[in-house]
Amino acid sequence: MAFETIIVEVEDHVALIKLNRPDALNALNSELLGELAQALKEADANDKVRCIVLTGSEKAFAAGADIKEMSEKTFVDMFLSNFFAGEGDAVVNTRKPIIAAVSGYALGGGCELAMMCDFIIASDTAKFGQPEINLGVIAGIGGTQRLTRFVGKSKSMDMHLTGRFMDAEEAERSGLVSRVVPAKKLIDETMGAAQKIAEKSIIASLAAKEAVNRAYETTMTEGILFERRLFHSLFATEDQKEGMAAFQEKREAQFRDK
Ligand code: CAA
Repeated sequence: MAFETIIVEVEDHVALIKLNRPDALNALNSELLGELAQALKEADANDKVRCIVLTGSEKAFAAGADIKEMSEKTFVDMFLSNFFAGEGDAVVNTRKPIIAAVSGYALGGGCELAMMCDFIIASDTAKFGQPEINLGVIAGIGGTQRLTRFVGKSKSMDMHLTGRFMDAEEAERSGLVSRVVPAKKLIDETMGAAQKIAEKSIIASLAAKEAVNRAYETTMTEGILFERRLFHSLFATEDQKEGMAAFQEKREAQFRDK
C-alpha cells in the first residue's frame, strides 16, 4: 500500500518505517497514525520482516500529537471517537520487536510513541518531553503511566508538571533510552541492532518480548512463572536444539524458525 505520511522500506529482514511530515515536525495526525497502524500490521504479517525500526527526521522523531487537528475538538468528539485508543493499541499489539530511533524532538505523543516501542536508541541531539501541560491538557497516549515506569515518579512528575525537556544524556541516565549515539550514526547503529535481532530465532524473539512486557502487567511471581513456562516451551523448538548444538560445535547457529 502507498502511504502519504510515512515511508516504509524493507531491507535484510528489517522494516524501516520513517515518519514523514517534515513541515509539521512529524506531528501525529489521524492520517499518519492510521498509516503507521497499517504499516505495522503489514510488517507483522510479512514473513520477510523479523524486526521493525521506527524513526523520524534528524530534527524531529515527532513533536507530538497534531495540535492543529485537535484544537477545535470537544470532549464529546474526543470521547466518542475514543481518540488515540486504536492507534496506541496498534503499536503495542505488534508482535515483532520494534526499535525507536530517536533524533531531535520526541515530545508529547512523540515521546509516548517512542515509549510504546520495545526500546529506544537516541541520537545525542534527542530531546524528550511531555509538554502537554503548556497546552492546558495532559498526556493522552500513555505518557503519565509509561514515563513514570521508565524514570520513576519524581522525574516523571517534573516532566509532566513543568513541561521541561530531557536531553539524551539525561534520558540514558534515567533509563528511558538504551543507548545514545552520534546523530550521524543513529540509523546505522539502530539498523545494526535490528539486524542482530533479525538473526535470532523469531520464536525466541517473540517469546522474549512477551516475557519482558509481562513485567509491566503482572506481579513478580506471575511474571516469573510466565517466563519459566515460555522458557520450557522453547525446548519444543528445533531452534533450541540448533542454538545449543552450534554453541558446542563452536559455529554460528542457523535458525529456521521451527
Ligand atoms: N502539532 C502541529 N504542528 C506542529 C506541532 C504539533 N505538535 N509541532 C510543531 N508543529 C509545526 C509548527 O506549527 C510549525 O508549522 P508552521 O510552519 O505551519 O507554523 C512547524 O511544525 C515547525 O515548528 P516550529 O516553527 O514551532 O519549530 P521550532 O523549531 O521553532 O520549535 C518545537 C520546535 C519546540 C518542537 C515546537 O514546534 C513545539 O513546541 N511543538 C509542540 C510540542 C508539543 O506541545 N507537543 C505536544 C502536543 S499534544 C500531545 O502530544 C497530546 C498527547 O499526549 C496525545
